[in-house]
Amino acid sequence: MSRRRMIYEGKAKILYEGPEPGTLIQYFKDDATAFNAQKKGTISGKGVLNNRISEHIFTLLGAIGIPTHFVRRLNMREQLIRQVEIVPIEVVVRNVAAGTLSQRLGIEEGTQLPRTIIEYYYKDDALGDPMIADEHIACFGWASQEEMNDIADMAIRINDFLCGLFAGIGIRLVDFKLEFGRLWENDYSRVILADEISPDGCRLWDMSSGEKLDKDRFRRDLGGEAEAYQEVARRLGLLKEGDANMVLDLDSHRKMRGK
Ligand code: TMP
Ligand code: ASP
Repeated sequence: MSRRRMIYEGKAKILYEGPEPGTLIQYFKDDATAFNAQKKGTISGKGVLNNRISEHIFTLLGAIGIPTHFVRRLNMREQLIRQVEIVPIEVVVRNVAAGTLSQRLGIEEGTQLPRTIIEYYYKDDALGDPMIADEHIACFGWASQEEMNDIADMAIRINDFLCGLFAGIGIRLVDFKLEFGRLWENDYSRVILADEISPDGCRLWDMSSGEKLDKDRFRRDLGGEAEAYQEVARRLGLLKEGDANMVLDLDSHRKMRGK
């Protein structure tokens, strides 16, 4: 890895220069942060699982016509992606009240929302990713009206698809965060889905027990975070029964050999 040029290091991923122009390699770390990195830790094997889960979801979204940055998975922790210019907006889609929505508005966690809510946050760690309105996006030129229309349309389609996907494996999709990027072709650009979709950026609750199968286990010190991520991967059919530990062991062997 050290042979490659690092383009950007984020909290949970690293981007390296890709094998050809217009591509990057997205490396998934085990590092976990919460509350704008005030809380830091690691979730053993998370990078391997998120790489697989995100590959699976982006591939399915691609198949229903959502354009994404995903090209192919390269190995346990890396995927080849198309280089985009990230739109500096975090798009949060909510079906059920939880997290900051519950705190801000005093709505009990778990309350089914009468309609899906889309919220926007300005992607700026120094400011703590503040919530913003369409007016701010237009005023400061973070995205055009046309781009925002495309983003909102894609967010709703992604939500409908993912609600069904997760319901089919006994999981309630409470909320999740998306990021989009501009893909430039000559002088024109279009927005495509970027970043990742994994239990790091989704709230996933078991439908019968209500058990949390996502990063809230880390945020709220509930324990069992690696097992929860494995359970999501297992239900998506990405791990065979009893295979979870093997996948993680294989990865630690690779690390030991310095590959
Ligand atoms: P929130 O309730 O903390 O605002 O989070 C809503 C959803 O967005 C939740 O599924 C977690 C996800 N999220 C991220 O992926 N990254 C972030 O920085 C934040 C604040 C939330
Ligand atoms: N990933 C974000 C951070 O560190 C927040 C979160 O997911 O809770 O800060």
